[in-house]
Amino acid sequence: MKLIDGRAAAADIMSEVSAAAAELRAAGTDPTLAIVVPTRDEATAWYVRSIERAAAKAGVTSRVEHLADPGAEDVTGLLRKLSADPSVHGIICQTPLPDGVSLEEVAAHIDTRKDVDGAGPTSLGRLAAGLPTFAPATAAAVLELLHREQVELAGARAVVVGRSTVVGKPAALLLLNEHATVTVCHSRTSELAEECAEADILVVAVGRPGFIGAEHIKPGAIVIDVGTNPTDDGGLVGDVDPAGARSRAGAYTPVPGGVGPVTTALLLRHTVTAARG
Ligand SMILES: NC(=O)c1ccc[n+]([C@@H]2O[C@H](COP(=O)([O-])OP(=O)(O)OC[C@H]3O[C@@H](n4cnc5c(N)ncnc54)[C@H](OP(=O)(O)O)[C@@H]3O)[C@@H](O)[C@H]2O)c1
Repeated sequence: MKLIDGRAAAADIMSEVSAAAAELRAAGTDPTLAIVVPTRDEATAWYVRSIERAAAKAGVTSRVEHLADPGAEDVTGLLRKLSADPSVHGIICQTPLPDGVSLEEVAAHIDTRKDVDGAGPTSLGRLAAGLPTFAPATAAAVLELLHREQVELAGARAVVVGRSTVVGKPAALLLLNEHATVTVCHSRTSELAEECAEADILVVAVGRPGFIGAEHIKPGAIVIDVGTNPTDDGGLVGDVDPAGARSRAGAYTPVPGGVGPVTTALLLRHTVTAARG
């Protein structure tokens, strides 16, 4: 069983981003990512700080825009303003959002060319149509790791557990665009273990610690664990039980150190790509 090293993959992407950012600066463009933070939330604050640190390291400017107790119009107004601002190249909007407001709804107000986390309906529609667009960074990280492992996707059986708009659905679309045979599972799936155990590639994005065990894993399968579940002692665990993965998988991504760092690096790669125009 091989552990897939997300930190090493992220380091490679970060050096590529640093070089691109330096080139842009030399040509007079300061690549800039705006991060809209609409609510106070500990996990969000932690994630935003980690993006800021990575951006600083890569020479990408990050601009955090806090909104205090906003309504939907405040969020969409800010997203429209940033979309029209030529000094901003990438825009992401953090969740959670105020009650009754969905990310899909507000992200429609991000200019698609700046939608570096593929959150808006146009980005998702383009992804579904197989047109060039920014895919959500987490879903793109899943594919990036599979590519780096040189996993043959065409004709492979892939099972994605989770169908959220930010992870499960776009990961399934990306796999489908690369000719995998894709099954998407969710909370109403009957016989989940049987479905998963058919997978050559198993992608898990549920948000439940240790939810996937040995019985869900086909011997030799590639297992990508997207889950990030905080533990009481301040740590992080995935959705896949590591002992189960070790006993059955051919390769799997640890948590932490798997999909997470690649996600952040890809967000920055998307930002420099957007800045190049
Ligand atoms: N590493 C990263 O960069 C990164 C980025 C984003 C998210 N994450 C993590 O990934 C995980 C998923 O995030 P998300 O935003 O996609 O979560 P989400 O919006 O809560 O979606 C969870 C999905 O899991 C499905 N599910 C729940 N219980 C299930 C069950 N018993 N059997 C089968 N499927 C079940 C849900 O099905 P229904 O649709 O039927 O409810 C839903 O589709 C979380 O741990 C999150 O923290 C990590």
